[in-house]
Amino acid sequence: MDKIIIHGGRPLAGTVAISGAKNAALPLMAATLLTPGWHTLRNVPDLRDTRTMLRVLETLGATWERQGATVRIDTSGLTGAEAPYDLVKTMRASVLVLGPLLGRCGYARVSLPGGCAIGARPINYHLRGFENLGVTTTLARGYVEARADTRLRGATIYFDKPSVTGTENILMAAVTAHGTTVIKNAAREPEVGNLVDMLVAMGAEIKGKDSDRLTIHGVRSLVPAEAAIIPDRIETGTYLIAVGAAGGEVTITGCNPAHLPALTEKLRSAGVRIDEGMDSFTVSCPVHDAASGCHLQSVDITTLPYPGFPTDLQAQFMALMILGSGVSIIHETIFENRFMHVAELQRMGADITIDGSSAIVRGIPAERLCGAPLMATDLRASASLVIAGLAASGETEISRIYHLERGYEQMVEKLRRLGADIRRVKE
Ligand code: EPU
Repeated sequence: MDKIIIHGGRPLAGTVAISGAKNAALPLMAATLLTPGWHTLRNVPDLRDTRTMLRVLETLGATWERQGATVRIDTSGLTGAEAPYDLVKTMRASVLVLGPLLGRCGYARVSLPGGCAIGARPINYHLRGFENLGVTTTLARGYVEARADTRLRGATIYFDKPSVTGTENILMAAVTAHGTTVIKNAAREPEVGNLVDMLVAMGAEIKGKDSDRLTIHGVRSLVPAEAAIIPDRIETGTYLIAVGAAGGEVTITGCNPAHLPALTEKLRSAGVRIDEGMDSFTVSCPVHDAASGCHLQSVDITTLPYPGFPTDLQAQFMALMILGSGVSIIHETIFENRFMHVAELQRMGADITIDGSSAIVRGIPAERLCGAPLMATDLRASASLVIAGLAASGETEISRIYHLERGYEQMVEKLRRLGADIRRVKE
């Protein structure tokens, strides 16, 4: 297993280009199952998770080819409708094939994902939504079997909480249903909007993009699509925060500044300078050492569905707040177990106390943050350890970095080009 070694304390400088969004690529890849033919997806990041999704599609009988960031997927000859446990256990987003398989074949069998490092993460909203559309779901031997004997029929579906993949799954099932489906309290994340655009390009009729109420008028048939994956707002945010923590000046290109309203507001309140272009950010921050006398302001955050502060940036923001000049309260409202990074950050000298769903971070001077051997526990937690390692003095060694590779394209290479002393070694 590989690990990452960082010698911290070097400011970042230069330009970094953002990849396509993992959480948009996965549903768009699943959507190719809806109708037979060659679909073309551009700006697809080459990640462990996108490779897993391609394996899921292969298991169902699809073929694909990749040229650079363009992936072409042929879903003409589906041979199965089952996503096996071996794949779903490595990536719970495999459940995204349920909706399109139901829309196309009226049948799907998908392993129920277990809990994961950040929480129980049930899929009851997805299943209840399918049932409203006329699907019968049963659970047998760890698999969800979903079946509809006739064409799915439109219905009104209300989510107790906005669910990103839940909204995506119901959208994909409903586009070819008979009649109209209304999703109330739908997720408004930009990745859902990216899927809506692709489905519309396939011939679907969907109103209310980017709102919490989506109306889908079912159509009889769809055509293969060409679509581009939006820039990864979580990768963008991770680099913005990294510059805040390590200091320096970096231009982040190929991103969408409009997709990070809460983060940019919080970073500015903390004292990080951010200039927004049409599709770029320039971010700068002094190095936080005793000589510069510069201090970050401590600010509070509460994670919320979009456009609130994203839970996928909570761990990284906490790594920044370690260096704040006061106390920051970080309140996590989306997942019940998303503080796994705290114990690792404490090993570096961070002063953090957990109180239920809040973490109380008391800032320490940068010279008290020291590198240490650390263990990555999930994707975003790993990114927070990298950020802390960049800001800390001495050597940080992060093991189990396969988590990081699920969602960050070439992070080590990108950071090295920005001047970080970071390398990957075989364990
Ligand atoms: N929920 C339920 N029942 C459901 C579905 C969701 O109770 O059937 C709850 C969840 O437990 C959670 C809340 O609703 O409390 C919202 O969860 P959501 O369904 O939106 O999460 P998700 O769709 O499983 C996606 C991203 C996650 C991201 C969350 C929240 C993908 C593939 N995954 O997950 O991304 O954290 O939305 O924004 O889009 C990551 O990339 O690291 C990651 C975990």
